Amino acid sequence: MKIHPREPDRRHLAQLPTPILRADRLADHLQVAQLVFKRDDLTGLATSGNKVRKLEYVVAHALDSGADTLVTLGGVQSNHCRATAVVAAQLGLKCRLLLRSEAPDAPPAIGNLLLDEMFGADVSFHPPEEFNGRREQLVEQVMDRLRAAGQQPYFIEMGASVPVGNWGYIRCVHELVDQLGAETPVDIFCATGSAGTQAGLILGKALFGCHAWNITGVPVCDSVEYFQREIRQLERATVEQFELQLSEEMTPIHLLDGFKGPGYGIPYPESLELIRSCAGYAGLLLDPVYTSKALAGMLGQIRDGQLRRDAIPVFIHSGGLFGLLARPELFGTLCGSKGN
Ligand SMILES: Cc1ncc(COP(=O)(O)O)c(C=O)c1O
Repeated sequence: MKIHPREPDRRHLAQLPTPILRADRLADHLQVAQLVFKRDDLTGLATSGNKVRKLEYVVAHALDSGADTLVTLGGVQSNHCRATAVVAAQLGLKCRLLLRSEAPDAPPAIGNLLLDEMFGADVSFHPPEEFNGRREQLVEQVMDRLRAAGQQPYFIEMGASVPVGNWGYIRCVHELVDQLGAETPVDIFCATGSAGTQAGLILGKALFGCHAWNITGVPVCDSVEYFQREIRQLERATVEQFELQLSEEMTPIHLLDGFKGPGYGIPYPESLELIRSCAGYAGLLLDPVYTSKALAGMLGQIRDGQLRRDAIPVFIHSGGLFGLLARPELFGTLCGSKGN
């Protein structure tokens, strides 16, 4: 069923709606009144997290354009690349991944990279200078080579954070309206990495008239200023492409600074402690790159009394499990006995 007259075609891939979990034992442990999780770590497709929602729309567009090969790019442990690889495997498409890797040798096939290979993706590694500085040429070269080999490649931007992909989180808002009610005060938090999750949530809130909802993104890389621009640009492009009747006053962008820590993918004591607490008190698996930092931000806001007293605090659990499993050096800290 269409959620909006302007909604583009969608390929059903995710198991939706994802459940809502009230984590009361965890809330008691963390000494906050309540904590609610939207379990987007359970979207299915080999626990693909938030990416599969965006890919439902992007892949429908790719198939519509006659593509037989999905091409995308990201870090060596990219959740988005792995999600693209699993979608390609399920649909019988080929998958070509360009991965940024700092290591001079081929990185170890663990976590997401192990799965990329198991799902049959064709992978190449690129040092940051090449990946960041000559990204467009790199992608064009790969696309040209695939075309020359008789394939029909379709390029998916980093994180599938493009206007058509934004419908993934517009749909998530539609689900949340069913689960919580558009009139209920809700304070939603998500991790922001390539910005499509937050942009979709903001657009969905405006499209479905959730006036009592606040949406806050917690950047895990770059800066708040960077994301303010990126999200605005993504919103504008989506509004324009799908002719949505929305003004910028209806789509305010809230970003929370201070929880990236020392850098992208580098955890800090509080984010690691939260991974332990969520596992031990709620049976929830957070990851070291995205969800643990975003939840640290949300908890900080709750403890500082920044959330409305009558609002339900909802954390979008966007997945990332395999990123956790790719970090054996953290296992000692995460699993060590507390000695009591
Ligand atoms: C597990 C996880 N959570 C959150 C995000 C952030 O989502 P977005 O890229 O849409 O900002 C990502 C990807 O960047 C991710 O892999």
